[in-house]
Amino acid sequence: MKAKIGIIGIGRLGLCLALNLERVGFTILGVDVNTDYIQSIQSKTLTSNEPLVESYLNDVEKFTVSTELSSIIDPEIQLVFICVSTPSKIDGSFDHSAIDNVCDEILKLTPPKNKTHLVINSTVMPGYCNSLNERMSQHNYTVSYNPEFIAQGSIIKDQQFPNQVLIGEASEDVGNKIEAVYRSFCKNDPLYSRMSRTEAEITKLAVNCFLTTKIAFANSIGDLTIKHGGNQNNVLAAIGADERIGSNFLRYGFGYGGPCLPRDNRAMKKVAEQVDLELPISEATDQSNDLHRRFQLEKFEQNQAKDEQIVFSELTYKTDSDIIEESQRLKLATDLAHKGYNVLLKDRKNVIEQIRIIYEDLFNYEVLRDD
Ligand SMILES: NC(=O)c1ccc[n+]([C@@H]2O[C@H](COP(=O)([O-])OP(=O)(O)OC[C@H]3O[C@@H](n4cnc5c(N)ncnc54)[C@H](O)[C@@H]3O)[C@@H](O)[C@H]2O)c1
Repeated sequence: MKAKIGIIGIGRLGLCLALNLERVGFTILGVDVNTDYIQSIQSKTLTSNEPLVESYLNDVEKFTVSTELSSIIDPEIQLVFICVSTPSKIDGSFDHSAIDNVCDEILKLTPPKNKTHLVINSTVMPGYCNSLNERMSQHNYTVSYNPEFIAQGSIIKDQQFPNQVLIGEASEDVGNKIEAVYRSFCKNDPLYSRMSRTEAEITKLAVNCFLTTKIAFANSIGDLTIKHGGNQNNVLAAIGADERIGSNFLRYGFGYGGPCLPRDNRAMKKVAEQVDLELPISEATDQSNDLHRRFQLEKFEQNQAKDEQIVFSELTYKTDSDIIEESQRLKLATDLAHKGYNVLLKDRKNVIEQIRIIYEDLFNYEVLRDD
């Protein structure tokens, strides 16, 4: 029989982790502060746009949820994953207060008899997990960092088929325990990258910063090629053919957006500031992403008559997701509409509804299919 695992924060990430673990035989105890949400999980009436969530939830037998944090103090639970949100602050760093609150509450409980290992899955700033470990270790807890490289719209599958599992371990023994959990549910054979907590915190942000840089680079070189009268796809295909570079994320298109890449990229600047280092790359990347949108706007202005309708579809940051956060396509559509163009947005109902609430009659709308 597999072990019992605690998960605090069973939102998008935590719920998918819980479902994947339960499915391979773990007993999962989930804790969340959102009572209505907990109830919808308990009654299996939760509706989710995340593929497989509803069907996996329908099958669960060993997944219990509660608002009582004390339930995770259980001699059978050695590992507790923490997946609460860590929103970006105005300066680009992450707000860790939800994790701090969880740990404040944990410290009010009777300390566990056996060492309990807290595993932070939320995205945090480098150095945070070390300081949390210092605080928690006096009370029989350890802290490790285990961020995931997943994207909304494919979380369950991304968790099952990761390129790598990144573990910033409190000790070799704890790292072994976390690795064993992933080995039991990953359906591929990922690389287990095990390192210190701070190294893992830097790696998580650096991976996303590199991706944004590659996307912004591809779009900038594409714009440059077009300005010189060439075909951007010929140039980018040839650059990507160099094995040292590779063609992934080196296509010409809209800039990067969504809930993770832009914020992780911006945080990198703060990470450098923490140690008095100049690191202009993330700011330059962000600026290039904006300049590319401006280039696209100019192209529309050169080629499109004001009385002709411009149609945009797939306004989310990624196919199969309903997230419009930092969607570059939507930003471009907005710029055009503000310049007086007649812009028609076509998408699924829940996407159009979100946009209509924000932009009202700035656009014309067409619902493509009902969700
Ligand atoms: N969703 C993703 O695709 C993704 C990808 C990579 C990293 N992450 C990181 O994972 C973390 C969580 O993201 P998410 O998208 O799952 O967020 P989310 O908002 O969907 O879920 C967070 C959950 O934590 C709960 N919560 C908040 N405070 C709590 C507390 N004190 N005790 C118990 N529960 C509490 C909330 O009610 C919510 O259900 C973030 O740091 C995010 O950056 C998410």
